[in-house]
Amino acid sequence: MRNLVQRQNQKQASLDQIEADITKDNVCPNLAKTATNLVMGVGDPDAEIVFIGEAPGKNEDLKGEPFVGAAGKFLDEMLAGVELSRDKVYITNIVKYRPPNNRDPLPDEKKAFWPYLVRQINIIQPKIIVTLGRHSMEYFLPDRKITQIHGQPKRISFDDIKIVILPLYHPAAALYNGGLRETLVEDFNQIPKIINLINERTT
Ligand code: URA
Repeated sequence: MRNLVQRQNQKQASLDQIEADITKDNVCPNLAKTATNLVMGVGDPDAEIVFIGEAPGKNEDLKGEPFVGAAGKFLDEMLAGVELSRDKVYITNIVKYRPPNNRDPLPDEKKAFWPYLVRQINIIQPKIIVTLGRHSMEYFLPDRKITQIHGQPKRISFDDIKIVILPLYHPAAALYNGGLRETLVEDFNQIPKIINLINERTT
């Protein structure tokens, strides 16, 4: 238990260093200028599951925490449905500042933040990455279509990391679309089974 707490504290300190580096390196100065907060991530720095969304929206920008608006409430509900909560997983975005007027993040913005996301993943060392929406999916699974591969776990390697990616629809897209919502919840509910399969393979 003490070891676990020590590891969480060490990992959190390393994650805090990434946050400091993003400011020091002046990443996406145009976004930084209009944003209220740098939104790094929330949850267990030693989590088995990392969720990656697109970019903070208005509520996230104001609070400095990812997924706290309507889409976040839906994400919390889906987490509860598989007996998880935001303090047991880690939630972040590919782009860490809110794009003005909630426009889509630009390719250059995603590219600029990618090395910092890779550092986050290297520190946390999750068993699975769940991408929420196409913006984070396309970095791990380029040239794939979310309509064709949502809910299908994929084993990939990048940057010395070997990991399983589960591409899911974005909760905001599914919020007001009944069919998509049902599909997302169905895909999401597979998470515990996928974790069990990964554990069987690695133990
Ligand atoms: N949508 C995202 O992709 N990320 C957030 O943090 C909030 C909404």
